[in-house]
Amino acid sequence: MAQARLSVNRLGLTNFRSYASVEIAVETAPVVMAGPNGAGKTNVLDAISLLSPGRGLRGARLGEHTRQGPSAASEALWAVAATITRGGESYDIGTGLVSAQGSERRQVRLNGAPASSSADLGDVVQMLWLTPAMDRLFLESASGRRKFLDRLVLGFDSTHARSATRYETAMRERARLLKFGPRDSAWLDGLEAEMTQAGIAMALARRETVARLNRALAERGGAFPAAQLSLEADIGAESLSADLARARMRDAEAGRTTVGPHLTDLAVRHTQKRSDARQCSTGEQKALLISIVLADARELSRARGGLSPILLLDEIVAHLDGVRRAALFEEILDLGAQAWMTGTDIEMFAPLKNRAQLFRVADSHLHASD
Ligand SMILES: Nc1ncnc2c1ncn2[C@@H]1O[C@H](COP(=O)(O)OP(=O)(O)O)[C@@H](O)[C@H]1O
Ligand SMILES: [Mg+2]
Repeated sequence: MAQARLSVNRLGLTNFRSYASVEIAVETAPVVMAGPNGAGKTNVLDAISLLSPGRGLRGARLGEHTRQGPSAASEALWAVAATITRGGESYDIGTGLVSAQGSERRQVRLNGAPASSSADLGDVVQMLWLTPAMDRLFLESASGRRKFLDRLVLGFDSTHARSATRYETAMRERARLLKFGPRDSAWLDGLEAEMTQAGIAMALARRETVARLNRALAERGGAFPAAQLSLEADIGAESLSADLARARMRDAEAGRTTVGPHLTDLAVRHTQKRSDARQCSTGEQKALLISIVLADARELSRARGGLSPILLLDEIVAHLDGVRRAALFEEILDLGAQAWMTGTDIEMFAPLKNRAQLFRVADSHLHASD
């Protein structure tokens, strides 16, 4: 059993959703939170997820985290503070929503100093999560799968977010010109050149991540199904520039951009069953997602000298049989990942006895349990 080298060791929530104020101290071992529906388990995971770049595992608007009801005295509308141990080093991260001059904005602090954006946190904390909402990933629209893929890509290539922002900014500007004019061809050429440059970078980064994960998935058998990833509606990197130029009239009529990496989809195959994830059962789909996340965690760990990402696994055991549950726990311990897992039934985590830190959660209170 490997010791986690990246872990949360202290977590403080202030006016965060159902919590007025709570402090949790934990060691590097995996953490289990068990309790009834509505106890406040996912809220804790959501808070942890805000220590990594972006909007966290619920993808909520920042204001939604603000506690409704009796609140603790605080300068911030809500705040999450944590001590992270990474390798031998300790980092203090604080993030929250503050209200200044009538507007609300997110504040991020790293070791007491203001960090320019939540993206700065990506260098300190790598995190992966699986939530019940993702059970529908293969059934719903491509945008959810694209977001999932792009988070995987970001783990290996921190420039991916910047490429996506550049691409989208130019795409919006081009759409505006096509709609309202002027349809100035030099201006459009310039925007399409920007879209091409950023778009190709996005596509290459996605292809590289897919290839990397496919290697990792093929390498390892075990209790979880072998999955194979592929990109659908991937761009023609050589032709993107010409494709965009050719699509101008069509895009103007359609009122949207009809070619480009913003349309790429992630397809997943269950290799033993030779079937697309869409056709698999809910349990099989969950198992495929777990395969992908574990493969990603192994690759991230390999790329970072054994620093496994923190895993947030919400209601993870719900669809798993006993064999798969035990296999998941073994894999987490073997990875040396600090996994934060939730469930309604503490018995489901029995194989982790003495190897994880158990908390019972009730009415947004956490009690250490053994
Ligand atoms: N902004 C908020 N202010 C106060 N309570 C909230 C807020 N957002 C969510 N809650 C409450 O938090 C409770 C616990 O939610 P959650 O952590 O999702 O429970 P679970 O233990 O089932 O995962 C819910 O009852 C919900 O109503
Ligand atoms: Mg929950």
